Amino acid sequence: MKITVVGAGAVGATCADNIARRELAEELVLLDIREGFAEGKALDITQTASLLEFDTRVIGVTNDYAKTANSDVAVITSGIPRKPGMTREELIGTNARIVEDVCKNLLKYSPNVIIVVISNPMDTMTYLALKATGLPKNRIIGMGGILDSARFKCYLQKELNCSANDLHATVIGGHGDTTMIPLTRLATLGGIPVSNYLGADTLKQVAADTMVGGATLTKLLGTSAWYAPGAAGALLVESIVRDQKKVFPCCVSLEGEYGQKDICLGVPVVIGKSGWEKIIDYNLNDEEKEAFAKSADAVRNMNAVLETLVSAS
Ligand code: 2OP
Repeated sequence: MKITVVGAGAVGATCADNIARRELAEELVLLDIREGFAEGKALDITQTASLLEFDTRVIGVTNDYAKTANSDVAVITSGIPRKPGMTREELIGTNARIVEDVCKNLLKYSPNVIIVVISNPMDTMTYLALKATGLPKNRIIGMGGILDSARFKCYLQKELNCSANDLHATVIGGHGDTTMIPLTRLATLGGIPVSNYLGADTLKQVAADTMVGGATLTKLLGTSAWYAPGAAGALLVESIVRDQKKVFPCCVSLEGEYGQKDICLGVPVVIGKSGWEKIIDYNLNDEEKEAFAKSADAVRNMNAVLETLVSAS
């Protein structure tokens, strides 16, 4: 198994670190455009091999896509992160060109690759990756919902004073401060709806905190987060390479499912060796359906901006 992570910034390096620790591949290539940067990160990760007891070979390269040849999975984290006060959407101009270029380079050397997109604005970058590569839809997966669901569980866990591992909680829709939809109705603790333990106002607050989860961290850190995004990316990769068939909310191409088409948006999917294998219907109620439709409208408006920026057709 060979995995490539493009972008050795904080998210990319953390994702690579998690992939190496979990031994998800024999070979892991970390690529960055900054001279020597990925090499440095790869060497640092490699020096933890005897400490953390893993055998994945980690190779850093400066923009040399030939070294990524025959990757089974590639994770795209390239682009600029947001600064405090910025939305993910404001990154589109810069990141669209970068992501399109990365996709084309990856495909040149790894025609069978499954692409995981983390770059923001993630839903639009996933749509762009689909259009720019022309790959079958199942091989393009945007990572946002796993991260947002982890944040949802974090805020629920604080209120419930429970193990985050006993929680089931899912965020669907877009990966934006106003487009994500934490499904409080379906969240459970040990199989029991969390609404049995928490009042409506608390659940509303948990959902609101979840939606601005990334922005809260950006304000605190001065840049966007990396531990949870990197770990979430690696978890998604793990389900692909180990063919685990885990159900994760991921940004995938919709062709009528959840009432939407010609868009990539977050819905629960089964993740296995072919990429995303099946969309799960969560039977949304009317309020959730309305929120999903609104989220789709916002993401579609963002996708329309692509026409003016890149040559994707
Ligand atoms: C976040 O929400 C990087 O979009 C990512 O932290």
